[in-house]
Amino acid sequence: MFRVREQTWHVEPSGPLRGDIVVRGSKNAVTKHMVAAMLGDTPSVIRNAPEVGDVDITTEMLEALGYRVGRCGGEITIAPADAPLARVPEAFTGLNRIPILMLGPLLHRTGEAFVPLVGGDAIGRRPVDFHLAALRALGAEVKEGPAGITARAARLRGNRIDLPYPSVGATETVLLSAVLAEGQTVLRGAATEPEVVELALFLQRMGARIELSPDRRIVIEGVPRLRGASTRLAGDRIEAFSYLVAGLVTRGEVRVHGCPQDRLVTAITTLAKMGAQFDITEEWISATAPGALRPAAVHTDTHPGFMTDWQQPLMVLFTQAEGLSVLHETVFENRLVYVPALQTMGCEIEVFAACLGGPACRYQDTNAVHSAVIRGVSKLRGAEVTMPDVRAGFSAVLAAAVADRSSVLHGVHHIERGYHRPFEQFSTLGLTIRRAEA
Ligand code: EPU
Repeated sequence: MFRVREQTWHVEPSGPLRGDIVVRGSKNAVTKHMVAAMLGDTPSVIRNAPEVGDVDITTEMLEALGYRVGRCGGEITIAPADAPLARVPEAFTGLNRIPILMLGPLLHRTGEAFVPLVGGDAIGRRPVDFHLAALRALGAEVKEGPAGITARAARLRGNRIDLPYPSVGATETVLLSAVLAEGQTVLRGAATEPEVVELALFLQRMGARIELSPDRRIVIEGVPRLRGASTRLAGDRIEAFSYLVAGLVTRGEVRVHGCPQDRLVTAITTLAKMGAQFDITEEWISATAPGALRPAAVHTDTHPGFMTDWQQPLMVLFTQAEGLSVLHETVFENRLVYVPALQTMGCEIEVFAACLGGPACRYQDTNAVHSAVIRGVSKLRGAEVTMPDVRAGFSAVLAAAVADRSSVLHGVHHIERGYHRPFEQFSTLGLTIRRAEA
């Protein structure tokens, strides 16, 4: 059964980080494709898959349900289960957010489903109410219990579903459930993140009838069966941004291969406004900062806005820009939870419950601490800190890379859950890291 490997990194500041990084397919697409493969009655193949902890967890979940999963390098093959089990074991409680997405596919396969409580990073309440409301709209009987969620449906039926907020996960639940439902589903207020579109395209290859319409509207015409399909995942835009910032913040230059420019439009412009210079080709993107970095005011948003998963490396970059920057997190109410670790490392960051640096968001007039003012240039110091989540973990490594002395970083498994071989990638760029089992 899946076990988290507790590890610590000892990071020595090693000057400018330079070199080439190849990013694989994204963590937030690969696992959803693995769930989609449950719907096919022949095997599916997912290529360019990253080697991340979330894939390990999802593989074990699928195997526990009876699916056969083969992994070789970046290729994942998933063969249908002859008689899939209807229950994701409780041992997977809290490990990631994937079980909730399995409800629809399990209902199609077995007519009933149990999934344990989902986890993922502790960056907000992260309720699953939109997912459950969507499944109920499709005709499932859904019960929430202390250990997880039980659902039943002899056959899902298409319906009109309106999402109160364009949730990535809830849009994926609708896609994964409506493709085999009877009749048409019209989803309004859908997420349009590239990883969601990538999933829709994969389902289309499997035989699904999906139309992506303007104004966040997705129309799905249910079909009686889906076959397996094969795809190559596009490069991870979160990893690509994170490593570009690793180069900028250390005054080096990182060239990122494998992530298309159109996945980074807002990110590139944000960094360019701060003084970064880009070289962009069909194959790679590189960034340098020849002069002083300028401060900026950035608010996170749904696609095509500035991603919530880009703000943590940006926060460290802000500490190295000359002047005051503002960051307003509007997607998850508790996503600044990592700031104390950065403050311990000398980052001059003040956090506020107000909406600063962008339009008022859903968290206006709440107690959610979701804005930050950052003073640069902060002199960062090495420290011993614990990384609370995957993206925050990356930002702690960046802070350690520009600190005055070595740092000890606990909670490395968070980074390894979402970044492809981060130890090797950082080492390639010239960062001196030593790992120790905790
Ligand atoms: N929300 C609800 N109810 C729901 C679902 C969502 O209120 O039923 C709210 C959330 O609480 C949040 C907002 O809607 O405030 C957006 O959440 P969303 O559902 O879009 O996020 P998610 O599907 O849980 C995925 C990624 C996140 C990424 C977000 C936003 C995966 C596994 N996770 O989360 O990635 O930040 O979309 O793009 O795909 C990460 O990789 O580090 C990460 C956290």
